[in-house]
Amino acid sequence: MDKLDPTRVWVDGCFDFMHHGHSGAILQARRTIRPEDYTSRTELIIGIHNDNDIMLNKGGKPVMNEAERYEHTLTTRWCNQIVTNAPYVTNSKFLDNFGCKYVVHGDDITTDINGEDCYQSMKDMDRFKVVNRTEGVSTTELIHRILTGEKTGLANKISEYIHSLKMYSTNINGYDPWCWVFNQSFDHILVHGGYKFDKSQAIYVFGNFDLFHIGQIEKLKEVKNKNSDTSTLIVGIREGNEDCIMTLLERCLSVLSCRYVDGIIINPKIDNLTNTYELDHLYCPQGKFKYLNKDLIITRILDNKLHYVKRNKIKGK
Ligand code: CTP
Repeated sequence: MDKLDPTRVWVDGCFDFMHHGHSGAILQARRTIRPEDYTSRTELIIGIHNDNDIMLNKGGKPVMNEAERYEHTLTTRWCNQIVTNAPYVTNSKFLDNFGCKYVVHGDDITTDINGEDCYQSMKDMDRFKVVNRTEGVSTTELIHRILTGEKTGLANKISEYIHSLKMYSTNINGYDPWCWVFNQSFDHILVHGGYKFDKSQAIYVFGNFDLFHIGQIEKLKEVKNKNSDTSTLIVGIREGNEDCIMTLLERCLSVLSCRYVDGIIINPKIDNLTNTYELDHLYCPQGKFKYLNKDLIITRILDNKLHYVKRNKIKGK
C-alpha cells in the first residue's frame, strides 16, 4: 500500500489475558477516526507480538499463548484486522506496509530489551497518538489477584459506570450505539442499543464470564451462528460468587467488547425465556480452544508461581 492514510490506524501490544483495559485502548484507537472522515480504506489494524518477542523483551512468557491472544483480539468489536508477529519496537516501515499513518498507545511507556521507548521513532515522526490507559486493571493486576486471592478491582456499583457501559456498547465505529444493557430485567435499561430489540427473537447465554477468554467467546460465536448469523445474542452476566477474580463491572465491559454480543443483562433475574443456554453447559466439539477454561488459566499461573511472583515484582506489584 503506497499512500499513508490517517483513517487507517494501527494499535499494537501483547494483549495478554485480554481485559477491558486492552479493549478500552482499542476502542479509543478506533475513536481517533471520526466517522465523517471514513473512506473505503478506513480500518483499525491491531498488531500483536508473538510469544518469543514478548519473552525476549518483557522477560517472561505470556499467560495466554499467541494463538489464544491473536484470536481473542480479533473478536474485539472495533477491530478490522489483526497482524500477527508484529514487531515489538514499532517502526514506520512496518506501518507503511499497511498504509497506516498513526500508531495509538495508552499513556504508559513501553520499553524494549534495552530499556528504549518502543515508540520513540514514531513519536519523532509525529505518527504517534496517545489515549488514556484504563486504571484498576492490567495483566499484572489479574495475576496478582490469582496469586494472592485479593480482590482489588473496581467496585461493583454498576449504576455509577453508565459512561463506561455506554462507551463499550458502541458499534464498530466506536461512537454510535449498538449493544443494549439491561440491569436485572428488561424494564431496567441502562444503555439503549442501536437496533430495535425484540426479547422473543433473541438468544441468551447465561454465566459468570469470569476471566473472559477465547474458549468462552468460541461458544458465544457458535450459539449465535447456529441460530443464524443475523440473530441477536444477549449475554446474561451473573453476579457470581466470591470465587470470581474479575468484578461484575470488569466482566460486563469485557463481554461488551466482543463482536458477537448484541447486549447484556447484568445480574439477570428473568424467567420464561426461550432460546436460553448456560455457558458452562455449552461445548464446541470443533472448537479450536475447547480445552480452555478458567481453571486451566489459573493453573498456568499457579504452576509457574515463582516465575509470576518475580514478574509481578518487576512490574511493581
Ligand atoms: N492498556 C490500557 N489500559 C490498561 C492496560 C493496557 O489502555 N489497563 C493499553 C496499553 O497502553 C497498550 C495496549 O493496551 O496501548 C496494549 O497493552 P499491552 O501491550 O498488552 O500491555 P501492557 O501495557 O503491559 O498491559 P498489561 O499490563 O495489562 O498487560
